[in-house]
Amino acid sequence: MEFERRGTLYWGVHSGEPVLAMLLITLTLGVWDTQALEMSVGKVPFLEAVNGSTVLLPCTYASCIGIKDLYFRWQYNDNGTMNTLCDSIIPEDGANPHVNIVGERVEFVGKNNNISILLWNITFEDDGEYTCFGRNPKEKGKNHSAIFTLYVVDELKVVDKTLTIIIASAVGGAIGLFVAFMLLKNLTLFVLAKLEEKNKECLVSSSGIGNTENGLSGSKADCKATPKKA
Ligand SMILES: *[C@@H]1O[C@H](CO)[C@@H](O)[C@H](O)[C@H]1NC(C)=O
Ligand SMILES: *[C@@H]1O[C@H](CO)[C@@H](O)[C@H](O)[C@H]1NC(C)=O
Ligand SMILES: *[C@@H]1O[C@H](CO)[C@@H](O)[C@H](O)[C@H]1NC(C)=O
Ligand SMILES: *[C@@H]1O[C@H](CO)[C@@H](O)[C@H](O)[C@H]1NC(C)=O
Ligand SMILES: *[C@@H]1O[C@H](CO)[C@@H](O)[C@H](O)[C@H]1NC(C)=O
Repeated sequence: MEFERRGTLYWGVHSGEPVLAMLLITLTLGVWDTQALEMSVGKVPFLEAVNGSTVLLPCTYASCIGIKDLYFRWQYNDNGTMNTLCDSIIPEDGANPHVNIVGERVEFVGKNNNISILLWNITFEDDGEYTCFGRNPKEKGKNHSAIFTLYVVDELKVVDKTLTIIIASAVGGAIGLFVAFMLLKNLTLFVLAKLEEKNKECLVSSSGIGNTENGLSGSKADCKATPKKA
């Protein structure tokens, strides 16, 4: 019995506990995963930019076990063909690498764990997916990458903002309607309950006084009588 009790916490003997066990496993794996190398292109993994402008393709790496001769590469996915824009090997954390540039409008602007690049004078052909790839020999050649998407446009549209406002007001309106509906529903229920309460009072008083089987007329009389007394 004692064993089983102690067991429940981790092994999920009771219903609902398996969820906890799964959560624990997920968390453990998650923590384990962050030990490894991680490439990141930031919270917003895309950018909309006008043709002719110069854009920053952001990427950073992080590794809890540290790096040694980290190989990284920026590549552009041209219809499935991966074109290398630049690559390099970073000997150790914080060392500024000598970057081998392949793309003609590419400039490396990284520092420390930042391996971002600039793409100068973009054209519509530059539209697409850019992969920031990394491999840390400390991890036996495991590949890591993050994808940043560049949308090249004629001009930055204001439509997006209007659309956002429309969506926001639509959602707001829906919530407002819902709240109004709930209020109305509650009010109706409240009124109904009050009415029922009154009816019950009538019935109680009628049955209490009359105690007759055909109390319909009696209850009516009582109902009329009560307000007069009050
Ligand atoms: C953008 O592209 C259009 C069409 O190719 C071209 O006419 C225009 O000059 C370009 N704009 C810039 C700022 O380069
Ligand atoms: C890329 O793909 C598009 C359609 O998916 C196709 O029209 C185009 O010819 C392709 N370009 C190359 C260079 O393969
Ligand atoms: C970008 O365009 C400007 C103006 O056309 C030019 O002066 C500059 O050299 C270009 N930069 C690169 C890296 O191509
Ligand atoms: C990486 O470096 C670029 C250029 O210096 C900078 O604009 C960008 O904010 C940096 N990114 C991070 C996450 O520090
Ligand atoms: C890692 O990527 C390289 C190409 O850069 C590929 O040859 C290799 O098979 C990949 N390794 C794994 C484990 O996916």
